[in-house]
Amino acid sequence: MNIRRLLTTSDPNAVEELYAEASRIRDEVYGRRVFMRGLIEISNHCKNNCLYCGIRRDAPRLTRYRLTKEQILECCRTGHALGFRTFVLQGGEDGWFTDEVMCDIVAAIRKAHPDCAITLSLGERGRDSFRRLREAGADRYLLRHETADADHYAHLHPKEMSFEHRMQCLHDLRELGYQVGCGFMVGSPGQTLDTLQKDLDFIRDFRPEMVGIGPFIPASGTPFEESPAGSVEATLRLLAIIRIIHPHVLLPATSALGTMHPTGRERAIAAGANVVMPNLSPQDTRALYSIYNNKLATGSEAAESANDIRARMKAIGFEVPTDRGDFAG
Ligand code: 5AD
Repeated sequence: MNIRRLLTTSDPNAVEELYAEASRIRDEVYGRRVFMRGLIEISNHCKNNCLYCGIRRDAPRLTRYRLTKEQILECCRTGHALGFRTFVLQGGEDGWFTDEVMCDIVAAIRKAHPDCAITLSLGERGRDSFRRLREAGADRYLLRHETADADHYAHLHPKEMSFEHRMQCLHDLRELGYQVGCGFMVGSPGQTLDTLQKDLDFIRDFRPEMVGIGPFIPASGTPFEESPAGSVEATLRLLAIIRIIHPHVLLPATSALGTMHPTGRERAIAAGANVVMPNLSPQDTRALYSIYNNKLATGSEAAESANDIRARMKAIGFEVPTDRGDFAG
């Protein structure tokens, strides 16, 4: 497969064929089903200063929040009643959530919802921390690698962050028995066809259970606030390519795509994606989890966003099972 050609062609038939092939492979592996994950944004505090991110340490005028254990459990209860069987606890790298605090929360969710998968997305931690969280009951971990090119990584991150440590985390997570997710932004500043080729090679070699990709969207108050957004079209093509090179991958139609285009998530499903992640966070904190501008569905209730997503998926002919939706590898 010539990735450069697929990403640059202006032949609409070639693009349609690409989407159809990816969709066919997804159907073969998972059927015409889309899995739901309930996203709970537990904190927008972050010790890191990633140049693209709207909740970076130096983000000006951002009201910081963190959810309590009780609030998180309440989000899970609501989600469970709505048919969610995976909860994704996502947050900035917030030192308040020590291993002790986080293990207590994970264990409480595990106890209250033994039929659910618990996914963490809390950035880089040490191997021992990952081990303790795994023992407390976490099943999966999402940590986008952001780019598989070390120079590009350095362009997107402050010097105290290292590409090697990020990759080390992904390998540690894998060894500890997590289902692991990596991923990257499409159209991030400095991205080229060469760096994308490395991302795809990394995915092909590492074979992560999940891959999260979405367009880069500039965030106000960040060094990249004036940089152009990534393209929806390129994101869709990359979703299709990832499905084709790694047929079993769990591939979300991300909110960043839904933010950039009114039917972005439907188009992602048509290009081979098979996961959606409606927001279960409390209504009053959603707008504060502003990793990029105009983030989707800041106001709606959990029930509303879940029902909206279900209806949208049904309308394009997909079932949304009440199921953990584990990797079918
Ligand atoms: N645009 C799009 N995605 C972003 N992320 C962070 N900032 C942005 C942005 N401005 C993504 C990163 C991160 C994930 C949680 O969100 O890839 O890993």
